[in-house]
Amino acid sequence: MSQQQTNNQVTKQIQIFDTTLRDGEQSPGASIDPERKIVIARQLAKLGIDVIEPGFALSSPGEFAAVQQISRELQNVEIAGFARMMKVDIDAAIKATRDAARRRLHVFISSSDIHLQHQLRKTRAEVLKQTKEMIAYGKQFVNEIEFSAMDSTRSDRDFVIELVETAIAEGATIINLPDTLGYALPDEIEELFRTVRTQARGGQSVRYSAHNHNDLGLAAANSLAAIRGGATQIEVTVNGVGERAGNCSLEELAMIIETRKSALNLETNINQREIYETSRMVSRAMHYPIAFNKPIVGRNAFQHESGIHQDGLLKNRNTYEIMDPEAMGISRSMIILGRHSGRHAIKHRLSEYGIEVADAELTEVYDRFKALCDVKKIVTDDELIRIAGETTATQPDPYMLVDLQVLAGSHKSRIATVTVKDSAAGEECSYSGMGEGPLEAVIHCIQQAIPVAAEFEDLELHSVSTGEDAHGEAVVTIINKGERFRGTSIHKDIIFAAAQAYVAACNQAIMTGKKQDDGAEEEAEVV
Ligand code: KIV
Ligand code: ZN
Repeated sequence: MSQQQTNNQVTKQIQIFDTTLRDGEQSPGASIDPERKIVIARQLAKLGIDVIEPGFALSSPGEFAAVQQISRELQNVEIAGFARMMKVDIDAAIKATRDAARRRLHVFISSSDIHLQHQLRKTRAEVLKQTKEMIAYGKQFVNEIEFSAMDSTRSDRDFVIELVETAIAEGATIINLPDTLGYALPDEIEELFRTVRTQARGGQSVRYSAHNHNDLGLAAANSLAAIRGGATQIEVTVNGVGERAGNCSLEELAMIIETRKSALNLETNINQREIYETSRMVSRAMHYPIAFNKPIVGRNAFQHESGIHQDGLLKNRNTYEIMDPEAMGISRSMIILGRHSGRHAIKHRLSEYGIEVADAELTEVYDRFKALCDVKKIVTDDELIRIAGETTATQPDPYMLVDLQVLAGSHKSRIATVTVKDSAAGEECSYSGMGEGPLEAVIHCIQQAIPVAAEFEDLELHSVSTGEDAHGEAVVTIINKGERFRGTSIHKDIIFAAAQAYVAACNQAIMTGKKQDDGAEEEAEVV
């Protein structure tokens, strides 16, 4: 742990230990294949994580290979090899992490009587003996050993202290006191850390780590409490994924520390700019959607629908925001357009797309916008631009989806016919295509119509209303010349919504390319 003196305040450096690829992967149905683990681990390193726990090496050959490759490749991050208190586990963890520049062995055993009696069926004496033998065994191979007393917050305090003393006597260098069931309250956590640190023999010679689950929504608060009790390392997962309600969320902890740094006097090595990209990557790899209202990375976290809030924000962002989403790589628009939005917000949003609407036209745009709000809860940017295009003399979108038909059936392929309007040529053309699913067939048609080399990266589908009249919102991300473009659409037919969102993303790529070409031409003229 390093400490820095700033403005007479001591700033404590907190190490971030990421277990997305081990504990996070224990989220129901969220396993990640080994190749993707490597990609995520690279992103975690870019994010500034201090210690990565890449997986449970013994669990499968693929997992072993992933831990091994991550250890070989990421030479600037410490790697934790995870193992139960057993020789086979320790051997696998040691072997898989052998090529890491810096590594530790992370061993755990339960300390609560509930676990000892009903799960391990061992006495306390047996657990102490196993801990002593296995830490001594691991110590032959590595110096840095993290010992976790699982379910420590529901364990007898004297036994936790005895277990920790045993671990320290055999060479453990980091003591982790997990709140495995997310049961403890912040005051209890602080007191647990303080007591173990000050009362266990050798307790002052080691570092402390906290690993809090979120069953009662207290994981981040408990992590701060552990820091007050003496912890200098916090174990987290991206998006808070993990067993049941998950673990302490990386982005929440990092942003609490960043946003309230003068109150907390803490800092981490996290590079804020990479937060959103990391969150999206993990969500995609695990096929695990992020709740709309999830702090920091949820889609509504920086979106404001109420007219009063929108008005305040447009005057000064600090009126209703405590963090800057752009500093975290969140480039999405901060205001959701819905029936609470006022004229000011509509005018402002259009101006962000370079569309200036005169006051006379604004009334008509606003009326049509309100009419659409009665049908849909949210009006996307693409729809607003379309309304403005129909009302004002603005340039229309380069391509527009006019119609689509898909022939579905029990055979493998789906056949689609799509009609697209090319605005510049003023022509509508129809295209046919096939695919394994209806969307693939439709995209193959659109790709014939729009001359953009687009790699289809991601599709998110959300329901935005309920009942028979339900509408789906599609958000499509494409990559064109290394740049990401997003298009959105809301429609009753989700295939239509997805196709329209894809066309919208392609239009954005075309318009961005055009702007760049125009800029280059202007520069050339000046020269
Ligand atoms: O939740 C827990 O107790 C754990 C340990 C194995 C560290 O994940
Ligand atoms: Zn855990």
